[in-house]
Amino acid sequence: ESSGHDWQHIERVCNNALAIAEQEAGADLLTVQLGALLHDVMDHKFGYNDEDRKIFITGFLKDLEVSEKVINEVVYIANNISFKGGTNKHKMMTLEGKIVQDADRLDAMGAIGIARAFAYGGHMNRVMHETIDHFHEKLLLLKDLMNTETGRKKAMGRHRVMEDFLRNFSEEWDGL
Ligand code: ADP
Ligand code: NI
Repeated sequence: ESSGHDWQHIERVCNNALAIAEQEAGADLLTVQLGALLHDVMDHKFGYNDEDRKIFITGFLKDLEVSEKVINEVVYIANNISFKGGTNKHKMMTLEGKIVQDADRLDAMGAIGIARAFAYGGHMNRVMHETIDHFHEKLLLLKDLMNTETGRKKAMGRHRVMEDFLRNFSEEWDGL
């Protein structure tokens, strides 16, 4: 998977979400874990919609005998985690959703975030400076969009890594 949605991304989001959940009291850990593992399943970018995702996740988790309450929470997370091409105006309302969203956003920042942005750019056949635009349009805004205090703290260091990178990139750009 070369568009930035590989298994390692899912694993990191899961680990990061659990790490945030440990600091943010009250989150249901099964919901956090399943929400993280399934957050990118049937992504809208690959032509699926909210209903497709709901049907898939519900069937998949029912087979694993997960409770209906947790299933509904997980469907909610998967259907609200990203801007879905700009059409999703909902703010994440559940604590578990906030945590998974922070973990997903953290993986778009820092050194890993830089690597994923260029991997995605390559996947879409974009030239390098177009990918730089994505930092200004989205990635540099993420630190102010964190839902949880723990997420905000983790985002600060990763934000600086991206700022340093962009400064170096621009200094080296002309090959002087
Ligand atoms: P989500 O669907 O979880 O909101 P995306 O699919 O938008 O996340 O992003 C997945 C990864 O691909 C992220 O690391 C993101 O920075 C990168 N990405 C998404 N769109 C672009 C783009 N236009 N240019 C460069 N990277 C992008
Ligand atoms: Ni993701």
